[in-house]
Amino acid sequence: MAAGATTPDAAAPFVDFQDVWLAYNEELLRANHFAVEAIDLKVTRGEFIAIVGPSGCGKSTFMKLTTGLKMPSMGKIRIDGQPVTGPLKISGMAFQAPSLLPWRTTVDNVLLPLEIVEPYRSNFKAKRKAYEERARRLLQKVGLGGYEDKFPWQLSGGMQQRASICRALIHEPKMLLLDEPFGALDAFTREELWCILRDLWTEQQFNVILVTHDLRESVFLADTVYVMSKSPGRFVVKREIDLPRPRELELTYTKEFTDIVLELRGHIGAIRGNATTSTAAAAAAAH
Ligand SMILES: Nc1ncnc2c1ncn2[C@@H]1O[C@H](COP(=O)(O)OP(=O)(O)O)[C@@H](O)[C@H]1O
Ligand SMILES: [Mg+2]
Repeated sequence: MAAGATTPDAAAPFVDFQDVWLAYNEELLRANHFAVEAIDLKVTRGEFIAIVGPSGCGKSTFMKLTTGLKMPSMGKIRIDGQPVTGPLKISGMAFQAPSLLPWRTTVDNVLLPLEIVEPYRSNFKAKRKAYEERARRLLQKVGLGGYEDKFPWQLSGGMQQRASICRALIHEPKMLLLDEPFGALDAFTREELWCILRDLWTEQQFNVILVTHDLRESVFLADTVYVMSKSPGRFVVKREIDLPRPRELELTYTKEFTDIVLELRGHIGAIRGNATTSTAAAAAAAH
């Protein structure tokens, strides 16, 4: 390796799961009933990964392990070089429901994490002005200029979800976790938000872990798509998405794009065990 090309630290995986298993409680553990099992996963710094798989396969459980909300029953997890021992501060999260507080304006909703999480909490009063500037800049960036002082009920679903992504990013986390963030939105709004997320990620280079049911979304956004299976909850397919960047929405209408979507769809079909056209597609894609 060329001296000084990369520091060893930067080359180390950002997310590192080593044979991680989780049973939700002692009883389930004794019964060998694991929500997720044998997860071996390495994610590089700044990588955008997407996780797809049927309901109940363990996607949200994986998220809880990644943020330290759950400790593994077996195995090791390191994030950013550190063993995970409890809830992480370097991550931001957004979920399917935007969950904005109805009595707070958009900008005050975005500021919320800074009022709660250290080290911001201690100096929040003193630095409020600077933080508010930051929140307003972020809202501008996602197209919510002019809506900063409105209340959530005055915003559309897509606007609320933009605000909740801003809230997840306000403390400049190294890792953004998104659990089906666009699932409740119509197709056009969803595609708009793909582009907003793409641009934020391109600019700020945080790691993203996106859980989604939308295969097109996973292929459009991610560097790597993982497919999970249910019972056992395992990572069964890793598909690197080598489509060039920057990616524009037109890409989603090309053959190379739909071929990858079909291939993933085949994997999911095979996991679900329905021997329909989707398994045929997987077979076709594999050859
Ligand atoms: N708090 C919990 N206690 C016990 N079992 C749970 C709990 N949360 C999830 N599970 C189980 O773990 C498995 C994976 O769930 P989850 O991670 O929520 O799946 P997904 O997000 O892919 O739909 C499911 O079988 C679910 O019933
Ligand atoms: Mg879930």
